Amino acid sequence: MDNNKIVVFDTTLRDGEQSPGCSMNTEEKIKVAKQLEKLGVDVIEAGFAAASPGDFDAVSRIAEQVEKSSICSLSRAVENDIKQAALAVQKAKMHRIHTFIATSPIHMKYKLKMSEEEVIKRAIHAVEYAKTFVDDVEFSLEDAGRSEISFMKEVMDAVISAGATTINLPDTVGYRLPTELGAMVKELTDFANNRAIISVHNHNDLGLATANTLSAVANGARQIEVTINGLGERAGNSALEESVMAIKTRGDAFGGVYTDINTKEIYATSRLVATITGVEPQQNKAIVGKNAFAHESGIHQDGVLKHQETYEIMKPEDVGVIKDSTLILGKHSGRAAFRDKITTLGFDSVSNEELNSAFEKFKILADKKKEVTDDDIRMLITDESLNQ
Ligand code: KIV
Ligand code: ZN
Repeated sequence: MDNNKIVVFDTTLRDGEQSPGCSMNTEEKIKVAKQLEKLGVDVIEAGFAAASPGDFDAVSRIAEQVEKSSICSLSRAVENDIKQAALAVQKAKMHRIHTFIATSPIHMKYKLKMSEEEVIKRAIHAVEYAKTFVDDVEFSLEDAGRSEISFMKEVMDAVISAGATTINLPDTVGYRLPTELGAMVKELTDFANNRAIISVHNHNDLGLATANTLSAVANGARQIEVTINGLGERAGNSALEESVMAIKTRGDAFGGVYTDINTKEIYATSRLVATITGVEPQQNKAIVGKNAFAHESGIHQDGVLKHQETYEIMKPEDVGVIKDSTLILGKHSGRAAFRDKITTLGFDSVSNEELNSAFEKFKILADKKKEVTDDDIRMLITDESLNQ
């Protein structure tokens, strides 16, 4: 594999859904998964199949409908979870099982009540069992951020020999500082010696998730686990849009690494997730917040008018933000304005049939609302393309 390529593993539909108030129904999850595919995500963690019949259904339906991204289900290191995960992802063109067990002293003692030997045995069995269903098995050392490096090496050796292809090192409680996390990743990447891809999964409890993800990339991690708008347990996960745009904008600082994300789809994906979950990114959120490309002070406005790069290190268009979307749609708007709007919003492959049907629904909505927003239009078009 190309050693400069960073695999983007999106867990909006699993860890992101664990954000309070962010649960999504199956239809909504399918919409998000299709958009993540369009965004160019390499692996979509579509859920935790064994968690509930609803989760199982969502993962299997996504597996049937997404072709270009690999579909993954999380599972504890227990046979039934792994079997459910395998059944749920089996129809996907590309699929992965992600299994995990905690390796930190505090988790092993109080949560698992297991010795180190028992944890290793369970981890090996989980990977071997997952391998009977799929080739691509990811193993996570939960709470790696607070685990002992020598024990992590033992676990890694064992699960790589059992067939794990990706080793994920989650900073489950967002405890590590970027320098520490980078040092841990470097030591474990050297230890893995190309036998598996090293991945990171950083939580944001100290607001360091993205800094930690980038430090990990600089030190050899080649998969990043991220979510749209930084959703996730407690303070959330490392945000896809931040890590991806940092790598794109400052790839030079990381020795030329890159992702295959189509960054022009970032804003549409952020809006879809915000509209579906009802959780808006904060206004000053990097990349996708309302103010991310707004300039208030006269000096800044003057500078940007003279040359965009005086105060902008990225172009809003590069992440799909349409700066001059001034066309307001309402019940008096016609089909031409509607078509113009959806093209401006970046939907360039909408058929006439989809357009006509969406336009009819738009008219019904416009009768009920004073102003139909860009988010409303995005939702209408996304619905149409899924119904075809
Ligand atoms: O934060 C965490 O440790 C996780 C794992 C299950 C990957 O979400
Ligand atoms: Zn997590």
